[in-house]
Amino acid sequence: MSDQTGSIESHHLPKGATAETYAPSPEFREQANVTDPSVYWKAAQDPEGYWAEQAQNLQWTKPFSEVLDWTNPPFAKWFQDGELNVASNCLDRHVAAGNGDRVALHFEGEPGDTRTLTYAELTHEVKRAANMLTSLGVAEGDRVAIYMPMIPETVIAMLAVARLGAAHSVVFGGFSAESLRARIDDAEARLVITADGGWRKGRVSALKPTVDDALALNGGGSTVSRVLVVERAGNDVAFDEDRDLWWHREITAFDGEHEAQGFPAENPLFILYTSGTTGKPKGILHTSGGYLTQVSTTHRDVFDLKPDTDVYWCTADIGWITGHSYVVYGPLANGATQVIYEGTPETPDWGRWWSIIQKYGVTIFYTAPTAIRACMKVGRQVPEQYDLSSIRVLGSVGEPINPEAWRWYREVIGAGTAPIVDTWWQTETGAIMISPLPGLTPLKPGSAQVPQPGISVTVVGEDGAPVENGQGGLLVVQRPWPSMVRTIWGDDQRFIDTYWAKFGDRYFAGDGARLDEDGDVWLLGRVDDVMNVSGHRLSTAEIESALVEHHAVAESAVVGADDETTGQAVVAFVILKSQQSILSLDDAEPELKKHVAAQIGAIARPRQIFIVSELPKTRSGKIMRRLLKDAAEGREVGDTTTLADTSVMQTISDRVRSER
Ligand code: WTA
Repeated sequence: MSDQTGSIESHHLPKGATAETYAPSPEFREQANVTDPSVYWKAAQDPEGYWAEQAQNLQWTKPFSEVLDWTNPPFAKWFQDGELNVASNCLDRHVAAGNGDRVALHFEGEPGDTRTLTYAELTHEVKRAANMLTSLGVAEGDRVAIYMPMIPETVIAMLAVARLGAAHSVVFGGFSAESLRARIDDAEARLVITADGGWRKGRVSALKPTVDDALALNGGGSTVSRVLVVERAGNDVAFDEDRDLWWHREITAFDGEHEAQGFPAENPLFILYTSGTTGKPKGILHTSGGYLTQVSTTHRDVFDLKPDTDVYWCTADIGWITGHSYVVYGPLANGATQVIYEGTPETPDWGRWWSIIQKYGVTIFYTAPTAIRACMKVGRQVPEQYDLSSIRVLGSVGEPINPEAWRWYREVIGAGTAPIVDTWWQTETGAIMISPLPGLTPLKPGSAQVPQPGISVTVVGEDGAPVENGQGGLLVVQRPWPSMVRTIWGDDQRFIDTYWAKFGDRYFAGDGARLDEDGDVWLLGRVDDVMNVSGHRLSTAEIESALVEHHAVAESAVVGADDETTGQAVVAFVILKSQQSILSLDDAEPELKKHVAAQIGAIARPRQIFIVSELPKTRSGKIMRRLLKDAAEGREVGDTTTLADTSVMQTISDRVRSER
């Protein structure tokens, strides 16, 4: 890349070091939230004690007496006899503590409109919304689907649902009607909250019509009785008078008086769907007390948050776990001031993010490697036009950050001094599990490094025995943790099979990893059929089944191939039905790309589709995706001796090569 940084000082530790390291500066260390390294071993001696202490930072309407119930693994219960209200922990208590005038949200719309909500104002809006939802019949135990752009009402809606003890299921606004419907059905949502549309890349991206389409599928009957629509983009939308309601009209009937009730710590807070190794997305269930404890603790310590002076910005969409834990619950539980931005980094030009940082004086910035690499490509001359001197901590999440991107991030965005916290975690873990602590950890570009206090991970072989440092293996979490997934919604057996069957009562994360000589963790990518495209999880099986649903397709195989910007990209190999006369070879690729986007959502659109006449299969008929991945990444194809027909891979590699 053209603007690789050359001026970074790095030193090599004489012994045990596996990479360049960057120790915290004395000035940073001095002011950091966590400065005593004994926190690690103290927490390791008594993890439950550590988490119980962290839980005391929350406000409980009924204190807990039991920290962890692990008598029925893998079904953990944390703080189970305690009661709390998650929303009032994020709102009312800050107002009660005299911080009502502190800004909670600096909202920046993509067209340039802005809105500021203090904690008092946000609390008021959430109370009104809670009253409105109550009038629509939402109560403890219900599920509410949320399909929204990145606007304040999305945060308000989530917190209002939580305030009532109901659970939300936020569906990313880029998902198709089919995907939305599958999630609504699985969660049996009774209400959908959406917007007319949102702004993306200078245009209105409609949302309400997709909700209409979703609810019209399968003959029209669904569990949903009401659709609440926020007016955001002003696009024309159809209105079903019996079912649809405008948020801004309804809300006028409700005031800001609402007493928050405590709910049990294990009351469901949300379901969030994520891709697994089979076609059907998994509804990851998170509950209240443990989740809020770990997201708030990690948000405070990993980002070194100072609520009264920091301005925090996490660029994740609320439709993903990062948006749940580090836009909504972590920062608001901590009383942070944060920025939320509706649109894309390149609108109206690539300076947008940096201008937002300059405008609001952002001090903590959390984004994904794929975005950093995209900005690197555009060039450092763009961020260099802005004053980014307010930045003091940088975060990364979603995939391993390659050292080149790490150095660029630190040098160009972090003035060569800001610590970078590379945070490893998952939808299932709910909160950060592995990350440096910025005042303590000498940073190693490319490694997520250290399990958080109270968290214990290791790397094991297929047999479950630890592998030696330096060897690759499978990442496992050794003990239950407060924000862990409680089950897959409606499917306890799949929960057991997916995460626990392999290694007993240790959690199998699905990631490869190795420990270096210092014991630092290096993540090596997924070991299952889950791809990571721009930090988003996609399942090969889900895309394959979308492809074969097309009437012209006989068979398909999908792989995640290395991609310079997006980390991995979807590459599909497709056999067309021999009798089909619908698709010419030339039309097939664009048509099938469109089809996948319509079935699942634009994020799943393949980068390339190769029409082939055969797929590489073993004698027992199993598709060897590993070989297809070799071909897609332009490598020499690996061992083909187990193939039923060894010439198939030759033909496919020639095909791929001819298109490079
Ligand atoms: C990957 C996102 C390396 C990993 C919070 C994991 C990472 C999957 C990192 C979870 C990181 C996330 N280093 N890999 N810092 N962060 N991953 O559920 O493969 O969308 O299993 O959660 O992303 O993705 P999910």
